[in-house]
Amino acid sequence: MKIVMLGAPGAGKGTQAEMLAKKYDIPHVSTGDIFRMNIKNGTELGMEAKKYMDQGLLVPDELTVRILLDRVAKEDCTKGYVLDGFPRNIPQANVLDDALSKLGDKIDYAINVDVPDENIIRRMSGRRACLACGATYHIEHVPPKKEGICDKCGQELVLRDDDKPETVKNRLQVYKEQTQPLIDFYGKKGILHNVDGTQDMNEVFEAIVAILG
Ligand code: AP5
Ligand code: MG
Repeated sequence: MKIVMLGAPGAGKGTQAEMLAKKYDIPHVSTGDIFRMNIKNGTELGMEAKKYMDQGLLVPDELTVRILLDRVAKEDCTKGYVLDGFPRNIPQANVLDDALSKLGDKIDYAINVDVPDENIIRRMSGRRACLACGATYHIEHVPPKKEGICDKCGQELVLRDDDKPETVKNRLQVYKEQTQPLIDFYGKKGILHNVDGTQDMNEVFEAIVAILG
């Protein structure tokens, strides 16, 4: 099963992708997490990506597409995967489609987690992230067991550099211009499903599972 998660920054794509990955035993592939891990490890890729991420801009397609295609070609992705944060624009979606169709394959579901802008700003400021394993928390909605420490791997939790209000505004703008058109793109393919992302995270999850079966 191959799933694409769509939704604005902070809509809960990562939160849901993580839960789906566990339930269906498929990898959660997040380009944002891959970039953040590279930044944390000081790699060349990380340094390059950071220039764009800190401004709330998209990392150039040449870099992003290569990383994503390498990742989904790995052994653990043969049964499927849940993509979170990719594709991010129409050219990326076309590259993915082409790569899959060469293998006689396709994306099965595009899930759009729909959340209005007001909720988004609130969610971002309360978010805490683990840069080591990609886990996501919220100081009110999803607190870790021990304050500031990741439940899963014990590393320190941080406020993401790009969660500053000014950068969040840019990310929302970029989302509207470049990413939102993907809703139509997958709608035309007949695989788009909308879920109300303002519900409690478990209710959002149940709604998605009802779609996937
Ligand atoms: P990326 O990491 O993908 O960030 P994003 O799309 O902006 O999405 P977020 O991770 O901010 O939000 P989310 O939807 O995952 O929400 P979450 O589950 O954390 O990308 C970051 C940057 O990397 C980009 O700006 C770009 O520069 C670059 N990049 C990445 N991919 C790229 C690509 N393909 N091409 C080019 N550049 C790329 O939830 C948010 C918060 O809300 C959390 O605190 C969570 O606990 C809480 N929460 C979640 N669900 C609920 C709920 N139902 N109720 C209450 N709280 C909730
Ligand atoms: Mg995310």
